[in-house]
Amino acid sequence: MRPSTFQDTTTQKNQKEEMKETVNEEEVEQLEQSLPQVNWMGSKIQLIRIQESWYSFNNFSNIHTFQKHFVAKDTDLFVTSFPKTGTTWLKSLLYSVVNRSLYPPNKTPLLSHNPHELVYDLETAVYGGNPKFPRPHQLDDLPSPRLLHSHLSYASLPKSIKTSAGKMLYICRNPLDTLVSHWHFYPNLIKRITGDEDYQPPDIQDFFEEFCQGTIFCGPFFEHVLGYWKQSLEEPNKILFLKYEDLKENPSFYLKKIAEFIGMPFSPQEEEEGVIKQIIDLCDINNLKELEVNKSGLLSKMVENKVFFRDGKVGGWSRYITAPMVDRMNKIMEQQLGGTGLSFKLQPE
Ligand code: A3P
Repeated sequence: MRPSTFQDTTTQKNQKEEMKETVNEEEVEQLEQSLPQVNWMGSKIQLIRIQESWYSFNNFSNIHTFQKHFVAKDTDLFVTSFPKTGTTWLKSLLYSVVNRSLYPPNKTPLLSHNPHELVYDLETAVYGGNPKFPRPHQLDDLPSPRLLHSHLSYASLPKSIKTSAGKMLYICRNPLDTLVSHWHFYPNLIKRITGDEDYQPPDIQDFFEEFCQGTIFCGPFFEHVLGYWKQSLEEPNKILFLKYEDLKENPSFYLKKIAEFIGMPFSPQEEEEGVIKQIIDLCDINNLKELEVNKSGLLSKMVENKVFFRDGKVGGWSRYITAPMVDRMNKIMEQQLGGTGLSFKLQPE
């Protein structure tokens, strides 16, 4: 049986030795100093540019170790995403599809765990060394298929993920809802990391500029999305490219698509018994956000579980974004996405 959370049995001594083996501190320091940096949302934390994307400075050595040492298995399933595009939702859907024969809806670990505790984030939770999550060498002990996540761009992913037969599900979302969601979420996290109560986040206009410049966590947005989009066209059996707006509009169609893609299609009997609807209802934002664990828990002793569930709407940006900003974003979308076959819906149908 898949355990609901990973049981950490490693002693601290083992963990230290493992870090020494995997991280060459000098090499990491030299690399850090050689790469461009900018302030993250006007805070003391630096974003550092790695392979054309901006990642937070305090994650640098984790990312480096993850890239160098992670070994994918052919049975792995990876959720990949730009932050604030529906990662939490896709994690809960994928977890439910994979484990549907193990747990009936009233017994699923999703009722007592935040989805991020069930589908592990590689660069932060696993390689970040949080004791609540498996250590890198313990990944091998996870039940198959291992459900793992990364926010890294396609270019930054470890080679092993790209060359293994492990499948990837990428979720993206229209840039205006993504940026408004970022703007709500990250100042909270930055305050917790820095402990700086006086930190003043940028206003929405300034953050809009940063988003357009691409100097945001995991930015630039369009490079991230296009990296996975282009690769999904080349390898449609390896990468399933999903959009938040499509999932909202037709969740059962996309849930079936996810199940087929990972080789676990719903049987006619399951369809008749309403299993698809049960999963959709379980993972509905209004259901997940009302669970005690998501109302009160803390993820990685850092982020309140509740902040992963805010509005969850398509077009919610319209309360924050002005008409000139929309015009500018439409122009950027034309430039960036023209001829790629990719487009976004800014409003619900
Ligand atoms: P908003 O801030 O627009 O509400 P991520 O999971 O990648 O961090 O993305 C977070 C966004 O997804 C937030 O958007 C959040 O409310 C929304 N979200 C979280 N759980 C969801 C769910 N089960 N269904 C739909 N949207 C969800």
